[in-house]
Amino acid sequence: MVALMPLAGLFLPKNSKIGKGKTYKAPADAKRVKTFHIYRWDPDTDENPRLDSYEIDLDACGPMILDALIKIKDEIDSTLTFRRSCREGICGSCSMNVGGTNTLACIKSISDFKGDITIYPLPHMAVVKDLVVDLSHAFAQYESIEPWLQADTPAPPNSERLQSPEERKKLDGMWECVLCFCCSTSCPSYWWNGQRGYLGPATLMQAYRWVQDSRDEATGERLEELEDEMKLFRCHTIMNCTVTCPKNLNPAKAIAELKQLMVKRG
Ligand code: SF4
Ligand code: SF4
Ligand code: FES
Repeated sequence: MVALMPLAGLFLPKNSKIGKGKTYKAPADAKRVKTFHIYRWDPDTDENPRLDSYEIDLDACGPMILDALIKIKDEIDSTLTFRRSCREGICGSCSMNVGGTNTLACIKSISDFKGDITIYPLPHMAVVKDLVVDLSHAFAQYESIEPWLQADTPAPPNSERLQSPEERKKLDGMWECVLCFCCSTSCPSYWWNGQRGYLGPATLMQAYRWVQDSRDEATGERLEELEDEMKLFRCHTIMNCTVTCPKNLNPAKAIAELKQLMVKRG
């Protein structure tokens, strides 16, 4: 059972309306207190989602948003649920909406925010629990572009498939993607069309990454697969994706170049 996470409070079923939750006070001797309002929803109860408020002593907490979440889970409320692994912006698992922007909690500083900080799950996704959203569809779409090298020509004996520095450079700005889906879940077109076949910026940039790879021999088939009114052309160049990417990548540019290739191809 999942609850739909809307960006605006429109068309919400009654049981999705967010109520006020509990407040956990900071220790009385805390001098630098910051309040985190965090979305909570438990599929095992009949209760509506709520925003719980946690007052944290910043003098006893690490500098990043993820440090505050881990402190809350370890010391205040062990039921708080979120994904994380690497703590250095590599695994892509701690994506969430912090202060109104999708980002990776482990590379976002608490000091970037004045006043209270509000944390929600990634928008327009089905919530599994608290800050964890269901990414099954997004990853199935990623799998659909066959994100691995395809070549009939065998690799040279006792050697890798080589690239020139120029060929390798074409992958820069795309191989760094950590598949956090901050971009896709900030894309209005993906909100409305993601379930209807639009692949969204994260997956489209990876599709282009393989089209641009000089070692790959399936370029024609890859472009053919994207020749569809939903998969690619539902991107309307709104640019939210690029503005949001916590790794400073530019999926909108990759999509624009992919569209140009498709048009050239006729
Ligand atoms: S540029 Fe395309 S993919 Fe990026 S936010 Fe806009 S519509 Fe979505
Ligand atoms: S392009 Fe950026 S925001 Fe999108 S999935 Fe990759 S790292 Fe995350
Ligand atoms: S914990 Fe890995 S990216 Fe944040």
